[in-house]
Amino acid sequence: MVKSLLDEVMTVSLRRGILYPSAEIYGGLAGFYDFGPIGARIRNNLIALWRNRFIERRDIVYEISGNTILPSPVFKASGHLDHFTDPSAECQKGHVSRIDQLIEEKLQIHAEGKSNKELAEIIAQNKIRCPVCGDPLGEVKSFGLMFGTNVGGERRQAFLRPETAQNIFLGFKRVQTATRAKLPFGVAQIGRSYRNEISPRQSIVRVREFSQMEIEYFIDPNQMNECPFFEELSGIKLNLVTQEEQEKAAKKKSTDYSSIQVTVKDAYEKKYVPNQWMACTLGDEVVFFQELGIPENAVRFRHMRPEETPHYSGGNFDLEILFSFGWKEVIGNAYRQDHDLRSHMNGSKKDLSLELEGKKIIPHVIEPSFGIDRMIYAILEHTYRPKNKSRGWSWFQFPVNLAPYHAVILPLLNRPELEEAARRLYQQCKLQGHSILYDDRGRIGRRYARADEIGIPKAVTIDPQTLDDQTATIRDRDTAQQTRHLLSEISILLKP
Ligand code: GAP
Repeated sequence: MVKSLLDEVMTVSLRRGILYPSAEIYGGLAGFYDFGPIGARIRNNLIALWRNRFIERRDIVYEISGNTILPSPVFKASGHLDHFTDPSAECQKGHVSRIDQLIEEKLQIHAEGKSNKELAEIIAQNKIRCPVCGDPLGEVKSFGLMFGTNVGGERRQAFLRPETAQNIFLGFKRVQTATRAKLPFGVAQIGRSYRNEISPRQSIVRVREFSQMEIEYFIDPNQMNECPFFEELSGIKLNLVTQEEQEKAAKKKSTDYSSIQVTVKDAYEKKYVPNQWMACTLGDEVVFFQELGIPENAVRFRHMRPEETPHYSGGNFDLEILFSFGWKEVIGNAYRQDHDLRSHMNGSKKDLSLELEGKKIIPHVIEPSFGIDRMIYAILEHTYRPKNKSRGWSWFQFPVNLAPYHAVILPLLNRPELEEAARRLYQQCKLQGHSILYDDRGRIGRRYARADEIGIPKAVTIDPQTLDDQTATIRDRDTAQQTRHLLSEISILLKP
């Protein structure tokens, strides 16, 4: 049987310790994965690249690190307790399915955002049955996605956050006062989020515990078209799926959309997006994705249709990536206006407004919300290279900045003088700030294969000639070509 790309990627991921099911020895729990030693390195590198691009390079973004358990009034005010649900139906044997997704898979139409009644009608009209056993499906109900818990002796009800964003709104006034930040400014958070998904699937693409990197940009509502990054980003091209295109396709019962290509400048000036801030947010993401090894034509922004967006939204644009199983959201970009701060003002009875030229204002918010796990899976799929005639093993072509190590150092033979020279080079490269692996186990061909399989860009081999002329070979992962260099130059040549 031909393996799907997902199966191939997961086979290597499991074998090489990129990721694996949590609590695997007890049979695991659907929708929970751990990152192993290689996956954790890739994840850390992705976070470092993101932090560098969106926080360090910008003077106006502050990072916080908040708790994952928050008291229930937070989620009452945010609307999660009442509205954060997915439509589900159970068959007589007790299999629960997420109904909008089931319809999308069976009929290739968009079903997200439809009411339970509309979904039930589609199920009945198209005689859709339980995907596990084929039995008829029961009533379509709303299934709450929040994980609840009780806190301490007083057993106060609390919830695991379903997004990192809420801590940012809760601490908004503290951060602004402590940093004396003036609008516009951003508050970022990287951390875990939890959703009790009905049908987790596609490895880490839909899981119940995942990580997000979110920024809330707080902006004077009168300055939504004065983004400080506009000049820098105005020429960046965006692949955009408009709402009109989606309506046209829906008439043909299709979800096969074409996108138009517009610059950030045109997206703003021709009003494809609600404001300059949103145009720049999308442009920034395109530049970031170029660094990750995902081709430009596999990245697009879909203007969410009205039924997919909450009533307070001024426009949502999902960054979608083309996976082997279709286009899927990886970043949610939302113009949330003043909804969140206003909701928490109502819920907490605390004033979260700012005073600007003698007037109280509630800032508007642009929110890019990146999913770390989906991004990692997208990187794995797009950099995966299957084995072929010239290379008898599969490998990952990670960009150097994402790769788990810059290089591996390999003594060709188990001879003490070669091992000593290899160890010396290893230490030197580490001192120069490289992340380096040392591998002296097994035949050299096997060691090259192991390094390729975890996407290490360079393999440096110390051989008997090294002892004569102080040179070593560097094998390039992408071309498999070897070139010989002086040991003293190797560290410089490994620089990303
Ligand atoms: N604060 C806004 C927010 O959370 P979202 O569109 O629900 O927006 C943002 O989520 C991103 O988080 C998604 O684009 C996705 O990458 C990631 N994400 C959401 N649910 C996920 C899940 N169950 N498993 C893995 N990643 C998920």
